[in-house]
Amino acid sequence: MKALVFDQPGIENLKVAELKTPKPEKGQVLIKVKMAGVNPIDALVVTVIPANPMPHIPGGEFAGTVEEIGDGVTSLKVGDRVTVYSRMFDGNCDMCLSGRENLCRTGSILSIASNGGFAEYVALDEANCVKIGNEISWEMAASLPIAALTSYHALNQAGLGSGENFVAFGASGNTGLFALQFAKERGATVIAVTRKGWAGEYGADYVVQTDAVQKEIARITSNRMSDVVLNSLGESLWKDSCSVLGTDGRLVCFGVLTGKNVPLDLGSLYAKQWKFIGATGGTRDEFVELVANASRYKIRVWKKFGLYDGAQAILALRSKERDGRIMIEFPD
Ligand SMILES: NC(=O)c1ccc[n+]([C@@H]2O[C@H](COP(=O)([O-])OP(=O)(O)OC[C@H]3O[C@@H](n4cnc5c(N)ncnc54)[C@H](OP(=O)(O)O)[C@@H]3O)[C@@H](O)[C@H]2O)c1
Ligand SMILES: [Zn+2]
Repeated sequence: MKALVFDQPGIENLKVAELKTPKPEKGQVLIKVKMAGVNPIDALVVTVIPANPMPHIPGGEFAGTVEEIGDGVTSLKVGDRVTVYSRMFDGNCDMCLSGRENLCRTGSILSIASNGGFAEYVALDEANCVKIGNEISWEMAASLPIAALTSYHALNQAGLGSGENFVAFGASGNTGLFALQFAKERGATVIAVTRKGWAGEYGADYVVQTDAVQKEIARITSNRMSDVVLNSLGESLWKDSCSVLGTDGRLVCFGVLTGKNVPLDLGSLYAKQWKFIGATGGTRDEFVELVANASRYKIRVWKKFGLYDGAQAILALRSKERDGRIMIEFPD
């Protein structure tokens, strides 16, 4: 099979190689990959996160069809369309047994501790594959494992409720676009902080530019400010995100795209009873629920690349012209 691989860190080291197609082991299926989403984690895996095995295939988010079934697989058959639950978990620890596979004590992330989906085929445990209906596009199927699930879980963790104000920083990004849609569905007033004008098409009631965040949100909310703030960008918008967090506000974070060292005003923390919530990935149950409801959501794809342009696809994440998702598409 053809796969995008690197043998030492660096996007310049990515190349398409001919590798042996994996054989599904007991309890596994072989997936023929149709579409993969490109995310910041893929850039990190290729550059800084220690990955296993080496040489390594990145690609944390993908979907495809079942090509072959290993012994003991009962819930899937050849030809099924599947998307992947991208957390690796043992199923035995206290976290897994309480339905929190994303926090598995021995767990990891598909594409870090295993080869990922920027390849024609991936062998994967049955428990990591979730069947998806024909009505769901491959672009959506390949956006559910990371982009959608992470925001879904984050809003569950923050307990965003109907009638509350929700502010999303990084609202035009992979995760941000889903956060807007989930927040709208939960009955919140949705405020997108973004340089892109089209966030309104994805559930934002208001779109705020990054240069006047506090003033604009004070005006929109009549000074109540936000009940839940999503900041997965970290440093660059940290002050802004705290400046719009209201009384009893929850700030939820699952990423630090622009840096992780931030100041914290403990005075406001106690006086306003702020809660800072970390979130990562999502649970398997949340993923199954999300897959079942996937037809309710939309995505915006900017560009689709072929496997041979995989390095450009990853570099394009930080392109000034970027205007939506970046995908890697595999021909039939
Ligand atoms: N823990 C987890 O499970 C998990 C899962 C997914 C993602 N993450 C992390 O969450 C973060 C966001 O991921 P994502 O996939 O949504 O990222 P993304 O698609 O690249 O979106 C980031 C958005 O942030 C805005 N932005 C503002 N300042 C920026 C800056 N200085 N550099 C780049 N973008 C900037 C941009 O929107 P505007 O142009 O509209 O302002 C951009 O669309 C990343 O750090 C990622 O690693 C974590
Ligand atoms: Zn576990």
